[in-house]
Amino acid sequence: MNPAVFSEALLNQLQNTQYGDQPAELYDPIRYIMNLGGKRLRPLMTLLGAYLFTDDWQKAVKPALAVEVFHNFTLMHDDIMDQAPLRRGQPTVHEKWNNNIAILSGDVMLVNAYELLLDVETPILKRVMSRFNRTAAEVCEGQQLDMNFETRTDVTEAEYIEMIKLKTSVLLGFALELGGLIARADDASVEHLREGGINIGIGFQLKDDLLDVYGDPAKFGKQVGGDIIANKKTFMLIEALEKAEGALKTELHSWLNRTQFDKAEKVKAVTEIYDQLGIRQIAEARISSYFAQGFANFEQVSAEPARKELLLQFAHQLVERES
Ligand code: IPE
Ligand code: IPE
Ligand code: MG
Ligand code: MG
Ligand code: MG
Repeated sequence: MNPAVFSEALLNQLQNTQYGDQPAELYDPIRYIMNLGGKRLRPLMTLLGAYLFTDDWQKAVKPALAVEVFHNFTLMHDDIMDQAPLRRGQPTVHEKWNNNIAILSGDVMLVNAYELLLDVETPILKRVMSRFNRTAAEVCEGQQLDMNFETRTDVTEAEYIEMIKLKTSVLLGFALELGGLIARADDASVEHLREGGINIGIGFQLKDDLLDVYGDPAKFGKQVGGDIIANKKTFMLIEALEKAEGALKTELHSWLNRTQFDKAEKVKAVTEIYDQLGIRQIAEARISSYFAQGFANFEQVSAEPARKELLLQFAHQLVERES
């Protein structure tokens, strides 16, 4: 099985999905953000999850797209909250249109996601909806914690991991779980898939935080340094706050407390503090460790090794990503 077949099926579904028509201000931004591409990892995870247990993975394509539409809705709102200028190398929706349009387009995307998810077969519909609802609420909980943490300097690593688990990882976990549910996998395997998705999701968000500091702007597609500008309590900053001593500690706190500053200057200064403390290496080790936990979860899934290989290859590529 060539994984390109999954991507083709998704692309086909993307092109054939209608989000709505009028008023144009409501629906144009949906087509805009969905067509900006992105890696489209989550729907691929749903298909990979289904393929582990069935050749009839095509029935997961529409629900897989539901996960991608939901993800893009969260990005549209996240970019307002994070005041982000760039997404996938292009202006964010609230920059190109305005905040109100980004709020309302995002709202209707959530509705579109539900509509696509309704495609699952009746016997599993209630279970799928209930798991999706829990996941969606958790993403909101994680996003609120992320915002709350901006104004705190005593966020612990455990609090941070819980926050990224909610805002990011549970959706990767759900994407895999959904594939398993659609393929009618055994309950234990579905749970191992979900846990594996959560662990690689934590590694994935840690890597996102790392790329936010050290990414190549041409490949990353987002504003590098955005997290530093907003005082986001990323793994990098929490480690730095813990490790910095003396003059370095004073300097770091002074950057966090400033309300007026030159953005580029702050990003450069804080990055240099990270460099001096070796934060990048610590983050990389932590990323590897969460991915390893994810692989251990996947080992427990009862599926043919050849089928599982596709999922493992996919996860290995995620570790190396630069965008
Ligand atoms: C971005 O997700 C938001 C995070 C959870 C880090 P992706 O890195 O999957 O973004 P796209 O969809 O590929 O653009
Ligand atoms: C976003 O985390 C997670 C969600 C959208 C729920 P980030 O704020 O780090 O994502 P990016 O970096 O803007 O993609
Ligand atoms: Mg955010
Ligand atoms: Mg953001
Ligand atoms: Mg980020």
